[in-house]
Amino acid sequence: MRQGLFITLEGVDGVGKTTQALLLKKCLEQRGHEVLHTFEPGGTNLGGQIRQLLLNPEHEELHSMTEILLYAADRAQHVFETVLPALRDGQTVVCERFIDSSIAYQGYGLGLDIEAIRTINHWASGGLVPDLTIYLDADPAESLTKTKGDRIEQRTLDYYAKVRKGFLSIAQGEPERVKVISAVGSIEEVASRVVEVLGGICP
Ligand SMILES: Nc1ncnc2c1ncn2[C@@H]1O[C@H](COP(=O)(O)OP(=O)(O)OP(=O)(O)O)[C@@H](O)[C@H]1O
Ligand SMILES: [Mg+2]
Repeated sequence: MRQGLFITLEGVDGVGKTTQALLLKKCLEQRGHEVLHTFEPGGTNLGGQIRQLLLNPEHEELHSMTEILLYAADRAQHVFETVLPALRDGQTVVCERFIDSSIAYQGYGLGLDIEAIRTINHWASGGLVPDLTIYLDADPAESLTKTKGDRIEQRTLDYYAKVRKGFLSIAQGEPERVKVISAVGSIEEVASRVVEVLGGICP
């Protein structure tokens, strides 16, 4: 049985997920939570190797099906090794990226079977669903200027426009779980928007 809160942060590359996750962790700790900050892909030792496979730009031959399955494999390891034990221990888990990223990037972005991606990931994560997902929204053309250009980040702006649309569609379909926050503005401005949506779920 899980007891802790599971909060995920989503958004395109460079939008500010890590920055906001660290501030969110501080805020939650001030409210008395014990917080684990983690991320996908690569939140475990084994996952680090899967992350290398996924993001190394030299891996041009990596098939889109393999891409889906590697993200799901990383997620399974992360959920069962790290996330679930922390939740069972009563910790609040703040995780950068989760199933919504697979649906947005491989489903909407690459135009692959969204229902299949949902099913595979639901199974791979033992049916774990976040209590709250904060989607940081910004124009990918802006966010991508802040990244180093890994295998995924080298995709076109057309691709990223589809990914953004994907995140917004997910949010529209699940408004109770997924809160859309504008990532435009200073780090402090965005952080205050994050704290605002937190009010509803986390006293
Ligand atoms: N609101 C902001 N305004 C200006 N710069 C920002 C803002 N938020 C984050 N940054 C800066 O943008 C860069 C990318 O931010 P960050 O690493 O938090 O994004 P990310 O979404 O975690 O990226 P990635 O997808 O690559 O992990 C960092 O250098 C960070 O300091
Ligand atoms: Mg990050």
